[in-house]
Amino acid sequence: MDNRPIGVFDSGLGGLTVVKAIKKLLPNESILYFGDTARLPYGVKSKKLVIEYSNQIVKFLIKKNAKMIIVACNTATAMALEELKYNFKDTPIIGVIEPGSIQASLDSINKKIGVIGTAATIKSRAYNYALKAIDNNINVFSKDCPLFVPFVEEGMVEGEAINLIVAHYLSSFKNNIDTIILGCTHYPLLEPVIKKYVKDIKLVDSASAVAKHANMILDECKIKNGYKKRGSLDCFVTDLPRQFEKLGRNFLGESINEPQLVDDF
Ligand code: DGL
Repeated sequence: MDNRPIGVFDSGLGGLTVVKAIKKLLPNESILYFGDTARLPYGVKSKKLVIEYSNQIVKFLIKKNAKMIIVACNTATAMALEELKYNFKDTPIIGVIEPGSIQASLDSINKKIGVIGTAATIKSRAYNYALKAIDNNINVFSKDCPLFVPFVEEGMVEGEAINLIVAHYLSSFKNNIDTIILGCTHYPLLEPVIKKYVKDIKLVDSASAVAKHANMILDECKIKNGYKKRGSLDCFVTDLPRQFEKLGRNFLGESINEPQLVDDF
C-alpha cells in the first residue's frame, strides 16, 4: 500500500482526458497533474527540447512525492519516455503509446490500423514501432493532423469548420483500415465528429487503455492506495491558471480547483 499521489503530465490540458479515465477506474488514487501551459505545444518542438521539459517536470513531480509517473502526452511519450525511464529508475513511468497500441491490435480484425497525432508524434514513428513490436503483420497508416489541437483548445469540436478539416485529414484512410488510434491527448474531444465521418471504423482512445495499464503497474509494484476515500486532484501549470481551470472542465468532464502556478524550475 502506498498513499502517495500519481504524477501525470502533459504539455497542457489534453492529459486531463487521461486523468478522467484514471479517476473512473481508480477513484481512491490521488493525482498531481502538471500542464506545461507556458511552453505548449510540444507537437512542433524538437526532441531535445521535449526531453529537457519532460525531465524538469518529472523531477518536480517526484519532489512533490509522486509514487508513479504517467506521461499523458503522446508527443512527450514518443520523444522522451526512454530517457525518463533511464533518468528516474526508482519510479515507475508509463506513457500513452504502448497501451493504445495494444488496445488497437486487439480491436483490429484486418490488421490495418490508422494513427493520427501531432506532427512530432507521427514523424517519430513511435506508434509504427510499438504496433510492429506487438504484431509484425500489422500495417500502419499514419497522418499528422496539426489543426486538431488548436480547434479543440478553441472549443470548436463540432460544426462545419471542423467537419471539413476532419474530411481533409482522414479521406485517405476511409476504405483501407478498420481501426484508428487517436494518438494525441486532445483528440478524444473530437471523437463524435471523427466517428461521424469514419462511420464503422473503430476509434481507440488511449486514455482508458492507459488507466488499465496504470492499474496493472500499481498492482505489480504493490503501490496501490490503501485509503477507502476518494482521491484528490491537485493541478500545477506554468502559465494562465484561470484559463486552465475554465477550459479544463471540457477535458475532465467536471470542474477543477484553480491550479498552482509554477514558475521556478
Ligand atoms: N499533448 C500533445 C500530444 O498528446 C498535444 C498538444 C501539443 O502539441 O502539445 O501529442
